[in-house]
Amino acid sequence: MSQKAILVTGGAGYIGSHTVIELLEAGREVVIYDNLYNASYEAVERIEKITGKKPIFYKADVLDKKALLEVFSRHSIGSVIHFAGLKAVGESTKIPLDYYYNNITGTIVLLQAMKEANIKNIVFSSSATVYGEPPVIPIPETSPTDAKSPYGRTKLFVEHIIRDLCTAEKDWNAALLRYFNPAGAHPTGQLGENPTGIPNNLMPYFAQVAIGKRDHLSIFGKDYPTRDGTCIRDYIHVVDLAKGHLAALKKLEDNPGCVEYNLGTGVGSTVLEMVHAFIKAVGRDLPYVITDRRAGDVPNLTADPTKANIELNWKAEKSLEEACASLWKWQQNCPEGLSKDAKVPDECIINYL
Ligand SMILES: NC(=O)c1ccc[n+]([C@@H]2O[C@H](COP(=O)([O-])OP(=O)(O)OC[C@H]3O[C@@H](n4cnc5c(N)ncnc54)[C@H](O)[C@@H]3O)[C@@H](O)[C@H]2O)c1
Repeated sequence: MSQKAILVTGGAGYIGSHTVIELLEAGREVVIYDNLYNASYEAVERIEKITGKKPIFYKADVLDKKALLEVFSRHSIGSVIHFAGLKAVGESTKIPLDYYYNNITGTIVLLQAMKEANIKNIVFSSSATVYGEPPVIPIPETSPTDAKSPYGRTKLFVEHIIRDLCTAEKDWNAALLRYFNPAGAHPTGQLGENPTGIPNNLMPYFAQVAIGKRDHLSIFGKDYPTRDGTCIRDYIHVVDLAKGHLAALKKLEDNPGCVEYNLGTGVGSTVLEMVHAFIKAVGRDLPYVITDRRAGDVPNLTADPTKANIELNWKAEKSLEEACASLWKWQQNCPEGLSKDAKVPDECIINYL
């Protein structure tokens, strides 16, 4: 691997922080670039505690080109992993302009700054949501794309933008990673998903039911054409997902141009199966109710990860049980989430906006 540092936008967030840990443990130098909109500086402190290595951190915005160029001039960056973005499907239907501006304009500004700094390798966080309602399960990368929400469309548009750039300028390389459903937490129980407000996703919500912060879980719909009537998703342990980014970075060294990969396990679980796996991890019954379907949910999103397995030499290895156990450990260790008040050192803040 090239010895240059990796800039990780959104590196204080859920998937970003786990990826930073894997990078540091693999001996890579990391520069985290995050505006802390949906994260805490405490995540950076915990990364250091877990790895014994201090990542370089900047509190700065991807919309801030001057800040990006300043960071690029201070460090020798070889590649960027771009996690920074807004990610709530429901919220994106209410404030679409914020989603398009942050996720699409933010990525364009980042790509422009990278181009000026002659950094031409990018790994991008895309999503299985780009597939809409796929005609074939498990879903190959060749499946038609048809995102159904503003959030999903930001991912799809950015994929097109990066692909067009790689077509126009042959010295660019990009891995578009379509994540399925990230789950679980770091096995130390020190880091995990840190939702502000009401969690959008099933597992963080159910974990909050388990510690008594929420009454019960609502399962949306039991009349889908699946084995128990609830939706099927491909839950991938966040540590496996993080490792997929290291494999993608390595792939970029072969100058592949723009390549897409599904990062999933290839095994779908129903919501009820997931609920029972978590109940088992907690060791006692937890309240849930079945309600009506939620608009926009599709019956089954299960990855065909064969392309990533072969071309990235990467495979998800951790079980659903490990995901549930780590989530429960994290939730018990840190029931209130990470502190929003952790003070960012002044020298880490750059803001020209
Ligand atoms: N978690 C999922 O279920 C999931 C699934 C598919 C794809 N993704 C994508 O993966 C990426 C990471 O997701 P996550 O779950 O870790 O989310 P997250 O919210 O925990 O992390 C995103 C990080 O980006 C930062 N950020 C947002 N806008 C920024 C900006 N303008 N400048 C700098 N930093 C900014 C936030 O502060 C946060 O730390 C996102 O792009 C998301 O859309 C997530």
